Amino acid sequence: MNVDGKHFRTIWLESPGCVRIIDQALLPHAFAFMDLRTPAEMARAIRKMHLRGAGLIGAAAAWGMYLAVLRHAASRDFADQMKAEAAALIATRPTAKNLEWAVDRMQKALAACATPEDRRAGALRTATEITDEDADFCRRIGLHGRELIRDISKRKKGEPVNILTHCNAGWLAFVDYGTALSPVYAAFDEGIPVHVWVDETRPRNQGAFLTTWELGHHGVPHTLIPDNVGGHLMQHGRVDIVFVGSDRTTAAGDVANKIGTYLKALAARDNGIPFYAALPSSTIDWDIADGVRDIVIEERGSEEVRFMTGWDEAAGKSASVRICPANTPAANYGFDVTPARLVTGILTERGLAPASAEGLRALYHA
Ligand code: MRU
Repeated sequence: MNVDGKHFRTIWLESPGCVRIIDQALLPHAFAFMDLRTPAEMARAIRKMHLRGAGLIGAAAAWGMYLAVLRHAASRDFADQMKAEAAALIATRPTAKNLEWAVDRMQKALAACATPEDRRAGALRTATEITDEDADFCRRIGLHGRELIRDISKRKKGEPVNILTHCNAGWLAFVDYGTALSPVYAAFDEGIPVHVWVDETRPRNQGAFLTTWELGHHGVPHTLIPDNVGGHLMQHGRVDIVFVGSDRTTAAGDVANKIGTYLKALAARDNGIPFYAALPSSTIDWDIADGVRDIVIEERGSEEVRFMTGWDEAAGKSASVRICPANTPAANYGFDVTPARLVTGILTERGLAPASAEGLRALYHA
């Protein structure tokens, strides 16, 4: 997508052995890049959320494996070294399926490479494929989702379609386009009037920091709301449709996404508002069916809850402040699971599926 008229992806190979990312830890206050040259640097960047979002951490893990191959390609114990690097990358964030999916795809490609040259070329080729495919799948999700927005727009006779989204599942969370926001961009670019309610998404505030920044740079009308406002807006007819992303989706259509998503799905159901999860097939975990039981939910440090970070206008710099008494215990669950019964449909690169085992199977294994 464009930033000040120039097209950017969130990750790219700047030069051999140097992977460049947009440093999302600095947004929205500064637009700057970070260069990563070792698999350990990549793992740290994922863990510390210099880059984040399901699809992007998948692509980042693929590039982490590429950087690992550059180090170990000529080692006699290449397979063992790569196994350890793969485990370190996968351990950075446990909920996102894309991470292990991408590492697995890299390992399968590398297994077919015999010489150091083959390994280097195979790693570069496969990481590039994963990256390009992520962007292409997200673009297609946008085209399928645009139909849903177009239908509502027709029903509303051109009045703006009000879309609620949680966290950031826009282009910053993927290589390009995004998932939940891709239909919004596709509709907006076609001239359909839209407006997005952006949940702030405590505690990391991806909505406030990233989604507002993205939508603002694209010119999409939007309004930032505290996390607990959505239900009220739905009761008053001010939300037409909900789009969220997913970090891991079960074969039966249960959707793990940023903490708080489940509550929005409950409110949407109570108010008869369609609730869609948008995700590329790389997010689907075909081996599990019960998301509440089987999806590992990432728990992060309590300081993310006890402190808030923002821009200190007077000092002209970023600042962090404690928002509770010192030593208050705090829990920080990164994700929750929305059961398939609350999901109106799942939007993928192949189109729209009912959120059910049959629906997903028909789209992928028919
Ligand atoms: O913790 P994050 O910022 O990586 O979480 C991002 C989300 O929860 C997104 O909604 C999710 O990754 C699905 S779409 C990228």
